[in-house]
Amino acid sequence: MKIISSIHEMQVEAEHIRLSGKRIGVVPTMGYLHRGHTSLIEMARKQSDVVVTTIFVNPTQFGPGEDFDRYPRDLDRDRVLAEDAGTDYLFTPSTAEMYPAGFATFVTVEGVSEILEGKFRPTHFRGVTTVVMKLLLITKPHIAVFGQKDAQQAFILRKMVRELNVDTEIIVAPIVREHDGLALSSRNVYLSQDERRRATSLYQSLQLASARIQSGDRSVDSLRKEIMNLLKAAQPLQVDYVAFVDPTSFREVDLVAPPQVLALLAVRFGATRLIDNMLISVP
Ligand code: PAJ
Repeated sequence: MKIISSIHEMQVEAEHIRLSGKRIGVVPTMGYLHRGHTSLIEMARKQSDVVVTTIFVNPTQFGPGEDFDRYPRDLDRDRVLAEDAGTDYLFTPSTAEMYPAGFATFVTVEGVSEILEGKFRPTHFRGVTTVVMKLLLITKPHIAVFGQKDAQQAFILRKMVRELNVDTEIIVAPIVREHDGLALSSRNVYLSQDERRRATSLYQSLQLASARIQSGDRSVDSLRKEIMNLLKAAQPLQVDYVAFVDPTSFREVDLVAPPQVLALLAVRFGATRLIDNMLISVP
């Protein structure tokens, strides 16, 4: 595995790979890799000839007062995990090169960036779309793999790529979970033992929603009430949202309808904000 931190060097390398006729697959990450990330690398490995994993803790997607400074970092460990999962190039740019003084160009997907996660993190998606656009222009991939864990992010990135005619196919990989259902996240390390135990209520809520929908409940009001009861028993600091959207439009629905609905949650335990979601078939 080759490690590159210069933007120019990565672009030259990517151009050579493309000219040799090989397909490039990129997996953008903020590091502190876990099995969720490595599942994306493995998927890119299967669907392309050369896998580029990027590690960059992107300051523009963190709001004031968020965890940018304390976001967990461990490049030595990441190097091993990325290589073992099948990475050929690890791209680790510096903040100074990604965002030189005076940087003023941003990519915004309007509308869908302002709801749900966007409501609680107003500049978050602008940071995500801007950095991913830069990473796509630097690594020149045929495919880019993202996780369903961040469902709204994946939806927004697909929309960005389609609307700006970026010649990269976006692939979305399933959520990887712990044995008790908690979705893997770099932020799980912030949880105390007690919070970690209570955090299983997110997955339990999604399972409850799915069971209720299978047995005929269609009302989002009633589903939300049941979920709130379950979540409250786990004593979260705050429930930011419990939402049901049409997965094709990301519009919130009042009544769930066939064929599918996407249930999404954001819950705070202490200082840690967790998100999860489940795509539920509606009979
Ligand atoms: P990060 O949180 O490091 O996640 C990188 C990728 O891993 C994202 O596509 C995310 O959805 C996926 N991922 C995280 N946990 C997962 C899990 N449990 N199962 C499956 N996939 C999982 O998302 C970001 O970084 C950033 O916003 C980024 C896209 C890199 C832009 O800075």
